Amino acid sequence: MSEDTLRDEVAVIGGGGKNLGGLLSRTFAADGARVVVHHHSSASDAEQTVRAIREAGGEAVAVQEDLTDVAGVRRLFDTAVDTYGGVDIAVNTTGMVLRKPILETTEEEYDRMFGINAKAAYFFIQEAGRRLNDHGRIISLGTSLLAAFTDGYSTYAGGKAPLEHFTRAAAKEFADRGISVNTVAPGPMDTPFFYPQETPERVEFHKSQALDGRLTRIEDIVPVIRFLATEGRWFTGQTMFPNGGYTTR
Ligand SMILES: NC(=O)c1ccc[n+]([C@@H]2O[C@H](COP(=O)([O-])OP(=O)(O)OC[C@H]3O[C@@H](n4cnc5c(N)ncnc54)[C@H](OP(=O)(O)O)[C@@H]3O)[C@@H](O)[C@H]2O)c1
Repeated sequence: MSEDTLRDEVAVIGGGGKNLGGLLSRTFAADGARVVVHHHSSASDAEQTVRAIREAGGEAVAVQEDLTDVAGVRRLFDTAVDTYGGVDIAVNTTGMVLRKPILETTEEEYDRMFGINAKAAYFFIQEAGRRLNDHGRIISLGTSLLAAFTDGYSTYAGGKAPLEHFTRAAAKEFADRGISVNTVAPGPMDTPFFYPQETPERVEFHKSQALDGRLTRIEDIVPVIRFLATEGRWFTGQTMFPNGGYTTR
């Protein structure tokens, strides 16, 4: 693909300042897209990503919003439309992880986990469906835990699980405007998001479950999202599991 693959397109990246979202923002900008780099609490990461894009000759703007607030989701897309005149690609990389037994999980933790992993994801898809140009692409980030039979992740995997249904319904409902809707569900990924809830032994176990005995890397996932945003438009309503064959028990 040429550097101009996404020329004249506008991308909104939820959580676009750092880790997976940060690399995605820089990659889409290098492909020619104008990028709206969303963040919640990581302002300096978002500013750094925007600066790197501009220094490389691209166009980007940083936007702060709490996406568990539906008005915040709407403002994010308002900013994209006001700044760049429209939106073609919307990728939501936001999420929050908790590893905790069901018997110890509080109501507050349940609400927080479902607030960002399910509610924010739902209204991101809704607003993208309203605001995207025809032939747009919507991509959400799930987790390979969606296909796992394991303990501890009831509110994380459970919070992300509705994405598969949101994705299928939206794919059908937005199809008349040529908008594709997919979820990408990586394996355990080597970012700071992954480590706090894992022991060193569990990290080694996770590594042992995938190709090459390693964790998923953001560089493994960005090409999958890029494919869905470019040549892969015939995929819609799908959940893809790029995880090196990772399984868990
Ligand atoms: N790392 C893994 O092991 C792994 C594996 C499979 C799937 N995933 C999924 O991949 C995605 C990216 O993860 P990552 O590893 O790149 O970690 P990450 O950068 O920490 O991604 C989480 C993002 O969620 C945002 N966020 C949290 N609460 C928010 C809120 N209330 N409103 C708006 N944004 C909020 C964070 O923004 P701020 O930092 O600005 O607050 C951050 O950008 C996540 O959806 C995650 O569930 C991760």
